[in-house]
Amino acid sequence: MKIFLDTAILDEIRTAASWGILDGVTTNPTLAGRAGRAFKENILAISEIIGDRGTVSAETVSTDAEGMVREARLVTSWAPNIVAKIPCTPEGLKAVSRCAAEGVPTNVTLVFNVTQGLLAMKAGATYVSPFIGRLDDAGQDGMDIVRQLVQVKRTYGFQTAVLAASIRHPLHVAQAALAGADIATMPFKVLAQIVKHPLTDIGLQRFLDDWHSIPETMRPF
Ligand code: G3P
Repeated sequence: MKIFLDTAILDEIRTAASWGILDGVTTNPTLAGRAGRAFKENILAISEIIGDRGTVSAETVSTDAEGMVREARLVTSWAPNIVAKIPCTPEGLKAVSRCAAEGVPTNVTLVFNVTQGLLAMKAGATYVSPFIGRLDDAGQDGMDIVRQLVQVKRTYGFQTAVLAASIRHPLHVAQAALAGADIATMPFKVLAQIVKHPLTDIGLQRFLDDWHSIPETMRPF
């Protein structure tokens, strides 16, 4: 499973990239607003950090297909690794199918059930983004949608990548991986959490203490 960061904060992206496990970035208008920089400048900076290791999703804000296609063409013209994020509405699907015909990559966002995801796949989306945490917030098991979309993708042989989004905690990442999601996108806080385990820290300290109890002359370093 690929790991994406769901953020527009450059320091977070640089740190995750330095760990060697970052495959891409997703943003949305809320996250772009938090970056506190001009949209294009910030997306380009993210795109440069990501380079050829993956893609960066930049969201369109028009609500009509014409406007979405225009914005999708624009953002994807800025760099080869940028993908246009488009909401799952009738106009959005229309825009996605037109983008697919033109070879403009898309990420269909705000997907809350398997039928929306099926339509996104049929429209030719590059990625489909079910929102796990927001479904959990509404009292539904968000991960069910990921499982169902993985099944639909496999049953019909769609090429669309299932991108588990709105991830809130480490268990979501583990469940997305077990469900067969192609990608999980997460806030930096969650990525930092999944690296760590208290037993790793305790075990490491014990190994270091034992190592240093060996006489220095008997150690190569
Ligand atoms: O990628 C979608 C994500 O940004 C939404 O997350 O936590 O606002 O539901 P959240």
